[in-house]
Order: sequence, then C-alpha cells, then structure tokens
Amino acid sequence: MTERSPRCAFVIFGVTGDLAARKLLPALYALHVDGRLHPDSVVVGYARSDLDDEGLRQRLRDALGEHLGDVDDADWDALAGRIHYVRGGYDEPDDYERLARRLAELGRDDHVYYTSTPPETYCPIVEGLASAGLHRQSGAFRRLVIEKPFGHDLDSARQLNARVQEHFDERQLFRIDHYLAKETAQNLAVLRFGNAIFEPVWSNRFIDHVQITMAEDIGVEGRGAFYEASGVIRDVFQNHLLQLLALVAMEPPTTFSDADAVRDEKVKVLRALACISPHDAVLGQYVGDDDGTVGYQQEEGVDPDSHTATYAAAMFELKTWRWAGVPFYVRSGKRLASKASEIVLVFKTPPHVPFDGPTPLPGDRLVLRLVPDEGISLRFNAKIPGQGIDVGRVSLDFAYRTHFERRIPDPYETLLSDVLAGDATLFMRADEVEAQWRAVAPLLDRGDERPVPYRAGSLGPPEADTLLERQRRTWHSPGSD
Ligand code: BG6
Repeated sequence: MTERSPRCAFVIFGVTGDLAARKLLPALYALHVDGRLHPDSVVVGYARSDLDDEGLRQRLRDALGEHLGDVDDADWDALAGRIHYVRGGYDEPDDYERLARRLAELGRDDHVYYTSTPPETYCPIVEGLASAGLHRQSGAFRRLVIEKPFGHDLDSARQLNARVQEHFDERQLFRIDHYLAKETAQNLAVLRFGNAIFEPVWSNRFIDHVQITMAEDIGVEGRGAFYEASGVIRDVFQNHLLQLLALVAMEPPTTFSDADAVRDEKVKVLRALACISPHDAVLGQYVGDDDGTVGYQQEEGVDPDSHTATYAAAMFELKTWRWAGVPFYVRSGKRLASKASEIVLVFKTPPHVPFDGPTPLPGDRLVLRLVPDEGISLRFNAKIPGQGIDVGRVSLDFAYRTHFERRIPDPYETLLSDVLAGDATLFMRADEVEAQWRAVAPLLDRGDERPVPYRAGSLGPPEADTLLERQRRTWHSPGSD
C-alpha cells in the first residue's frame, strides 16, 4: 500500500548540482508518480545560478530524461507546475529572508530542507535558516537532511553536530547514508529477526569470520579534488561499510517502529569496535594499466604525488560476548575489476567429517549481495551423485529481481519518502556518526605512509590477500568457496 506524505515544501539547496539531477529529482518524480508525494506539495530549488522557475523546470526535465529515460509528459507537467526557484548564496542572511518570503507565499508550513551542497556550506545553511526563523514553527515540522560527508574526522564531526544542534533538535535531523536504504541492507533485519533459523547460529559459536566488500570499477569520475580530501576511508569506510557491519552485528532491537530502538543497538556495535592495528590494514592506490586507463595520480584535480588511498582492507574486531574472536574483514576500492558489494558470513568447518576424502570440508557461506543482482545465496556441501560419497559445493539462491515482480526502488526514493514521513530509522544519529569516526581514526592517522600500488582493473593489491592468508583465510569470490 502506498502511503501519501503530508503536504509540504521540499527545499533543495544546491538544486543545480549533480546529486539533485541524478538522485533527488528522479526520486521525487518516482514518489509523485506513485502517489506518495502529496499532490499539493511544492519543490523549491535554491542555488546561486541565475535562473527563474521556468529555467529550473527545463533543467530538471532534461536531467530526468537523461537519468530516468522514461518520463511521462502528463506526470511531469503535474510535478513541474509545483517546482519553484529561489536564487541565493549560502552566506547571505538576506537571501534566506527572501527564501522565507517565498515559502510564506507558497503557503506550506511544513518544510524539508536538503543540503545537496559541498560540506563547507552545511553550517552557513543551518545558520541562514535559523536567522530567517525557518528552523522552527509551532504546529509544523521543519526537517533538515544532511548529506555525507558529515565532518572529516571525529573532532570536526563533533563540532558540526554541536553547531547544527544549536538550532535544530536531533529529532529534526536526518543524516543520510544511502547504503542503509538498499534492499539487501534492509532485508538483513528481516532475514535475521523475521526468521527463527538464522539468529541461533549468528555468533562466534558458529561463524568463523565475516567479510564485507564494496568494490567499484569506476575511478573518481571527475571528482578528483573532492576525493583527494576524502580518500576511501572517509568516502565509504566510515559510513557505508561500518553501517553494514553494524547491521550484521547488532543485537535484536525490541522494535523497528522506533528509530532510536534500532539506532541504540547500532551504536553499541560501533562503540565496541576494537582499534585496528597498522598490521591489520592495507591501504592502496590504483596505477594505470596497459590499456591506457590512467592511474589515480594522473586524474584531474589530483596531486601527482598524492598519498590518498583509493583502496583499503582492514580487520575489525568486536569486543562483545556474541562476537569476540570473529574477525570482520572489510574492503573497498575504486577501479577494481568489477562493481560488487556483498556481505559474506563464513561458518566454521564441520568439527568431524565421517566420510573419506579431503578434510576439512569448507565451511558454509551465507552471501548477501547488494550489487549487482541483489539477493542471497547459501553455499553448502552436498553429495555428488554416484557411488560412494564425494562431496561438492551447491547453492540455494534467491534473487530479488526474479522472485518479486516489482521494481526495486532507488535508495534515495526510500530515504526521501522516510524523511517526508518523519521516520529516521535509516538515518544516522549524532552519536552514531561520532562512533564511526572513532572506529576509523587509526586508518586516517597513518603519517607519511604511502599506499601500496595496485593495477587499475585488478582485484586490488596482493597485500590485501596476504592480510587474510596470514590467518589461513581467503577473500570470497564466486568459485572460491
Ligand atoms: C558514494 C561515494 O557515497 O557511494 C562514491 O561517495 C561511490 O564514491 C558511491 O561511488 C557508490 O554508491 P553505489 O550505490 O553506486 O554503490
């Protein structure tokens, strides 16, 4: 059943930027077509460019065509008539006054503000909204969605939290991490807590180790200057990968209808993450390959002597009763052989094998695929037909796309719909973000250490394989289990 959001004004700061064109507008359009955006809601774009309402509508129509392909003219016309533009800077109190007047003219009291802008504008936007009195109104909701990166280390995240909370209450804040809205990430909770067979084996009694991988085949895609300041740890480790780890490791919350009940459990996991020693992490940087793919240092906007890591693999440990002794191996990199994100739980090997043949038998594996082809596979041992007992590997597979005959929503669609409904379950709380920065601090503070090189289009640096081999384990790849 589709639920319609309340009538409101959805304000996008940085509406002329890439995120608005690629993600926000397509998501709002999908909600509109689905009947989940109130037919009386308005979208107000805010940016520095010299545009008017019509100019913004044309721009967004072109962007929709480019990123969505299939756009229905009647649906678009119904949405376009409710799109408005306010030109303004991020540091100018007068511009926020103009925004306030425009919002008053439009007559919607409930507001969502979205910072689709560079991180240095987050504080000026918060202060600008507060100076114009837009941050609060009795009897109405005022919600602020803050994009990542939220700070660039623990100190800056603390300062940002403090500045934002001077004007907005925590319950008005929605810190985005789009990985939480991926179907498989959400399904982890249903798999674990909606079935009785998984939870009893979900611990160090049965699980040998956990692997979390986010591999990308793309490079920095014209975002060289941004990436130089962030690198793989700030870009995806601190947020996406640790959020997935928290979902795998958290204790069952009493309910999923209360955002804090879920977030309390995730924070406990993030706080229990043990410090990584330099010995347990590998940082890498891609170099050009023979086909002419350029190396990271040759990308536009990148220092030709850059030490920024585009790959990291690290071992985390959790100091809890359930997980003590179970390593969590986490890795991510740009310009790898293919795009794939997955979580693999590797179970212990059978304690005794009563058949002839090679021992030990491989441990069972539960593979949760986020990208591509969202789904779940259970890999286990089975008898190969024929005389005697020969054991081979088989798989039980479930794929979202073929099983449910439904479109899989883009994570931004889910997230915007949740903001409109006031549901913060899939958003990060202040203490959660800070716990994440604390956990990755040892990976950020590596002095002058140079990342090891790996070839663009490869599986990553060989040193990452050694990290596991030292503990007689290997990274999961189809066919390796
Ligand atoms: C973003 C990162 O958060 O996630 C990008 O900033 C990365 O560097 C992207 O490419 C990957 O998201 P997805 O959904 O395509 O896996």
